[in-house]
Amino acid sequence: MTSQALQIVQLFDTDSSTYTYVVYDAQSLDAVIIDPVDTQLERDQQTIQTLGLKLRWALETHAHADHITSAGLLAEHLGAQTAAPEGCHIGTAAVQLVEGQMIPFGAFALKALHTPGHTAGSMCFYVGADQASHVFSGDTLLIGGCGRTDFQSGSAKDMFNSLIDILFKLPANTTVWPGHDYQGRTHSSIGHEMQHNARVAGKTLAQFEAIMAQLNLPKPRRIDEAVPANLTSGLRHDAGGDVVSHDVVSVRPAQGYAGDVFPELAWHWVQSGEAVLVDVRSDAERAWVGFVPEAKPLAWKQWPVVDVNPDFDAGLQRIGAEGKKIVLLCRSGVRSVAAAQRATQLGLEAYNILEGFEGDPDAHAHRGLLGGWRKRGLPWRQN
Ligand SMILES: [Fe+2]
Repeated sequence: MTSQALQIVQLFDTDSSTYTYVVYDAQSLDAVIIDPVDTQLERDQQTIQTLGLKLRWALETHAHADHITSAGLLAEHLGAQTAAPEGCHIGTAAVQLVEGQMIPFGAFALKALHTPGHTAGSMCFYVGADQASHVFSGDTLLIGGCGRTDFQSGSAKDMFNSLIDILFKLPANTTVWPGHDYQGRTHSSIGHEMQHNARVAGKTLAQFEAIMAQLNLPKPRRIDEAVPANLTSGLRHDAGGDVVSHDVVSVRPAQGYAGDVFPELAWHWVQSGEAVLVDVRSDAERAWVGFVPEAKPLAWKQWPVVDVNPDFDAGLQRIGAEGKKIVLLCRSGVRSVAAAQRATQLGLEAYNILEGFEGDPDAHAHRGLLGGWRKRGLPWRQN
């Protein structure tokens, strides 16, 4: 799977038959992840850490209907930037990709190719390296087939044009890395698909449209849940943002730590001396965005370093020696979950503060508007 310094790791989610790709420059270790799946977050983080990679980008080929992305979580945990096709309206993605845009990592760059058909915004990512070239074809070109075109702004005519006029114009020896395969096949080539793809090889547009119209596929199992979640990079706003309707003073059960609490309850505990508030954001975030004067700063990671702060455990144990509950605050409640799990392993009674200091980003990637410590009117300072 290599062409000298360009390395490709292909990962598979059996539940959704989705391929996720980690593509990296073996010299600089700069990496990109394409179409990550939320339930595989741990596997993907481990892959990246084991290889010592610096994750620069979390990319989507489109807004998926069959699984939820972990792009937002990877950005929060590893410092990657999120990027998604402009036409997919994933407002939380930091970079809105347009046709031809280059996505650099180390000595390489992926080129975004706008390939509408499966969805109107769908893109493929192409990279040429050392005489070899690769295309990450998402749900546009599959091995022996193509993505469905019957929902989510799909169009058989657009799909035909994307296959014939864009992907089949790539060098014939380009390796095709699909977004899915349901029969255990891993990759193909443009030349092979031009000759043998059952849907499109040798077909006219009318024939192709007839084939696509007769597929009669069932509705994807998770579409109602997955598409809305993917429009916010997989950040699911579980904590709400609708302050009024939530019970903010009870503890919600959680896996691997004592529980989730809203900022109001955490603050009540801190004021009554029951709990110690620990801010696990980086020094830079606290300085630039604002901080809670009563919180003890203890960074889980210093941005954009991938490794956990080596002094985290010792720092937490010092704080825990007071024998109080620990309530953990981060930007939006992602890193604080990881920190709460770690604190629990260290034998402490640790709670995650839902929504964090700033809350999740909204559809325009603006933070601070969907809940969070600051939005809820609890004490904080800018300097
Ligand atoms: Fe799809």
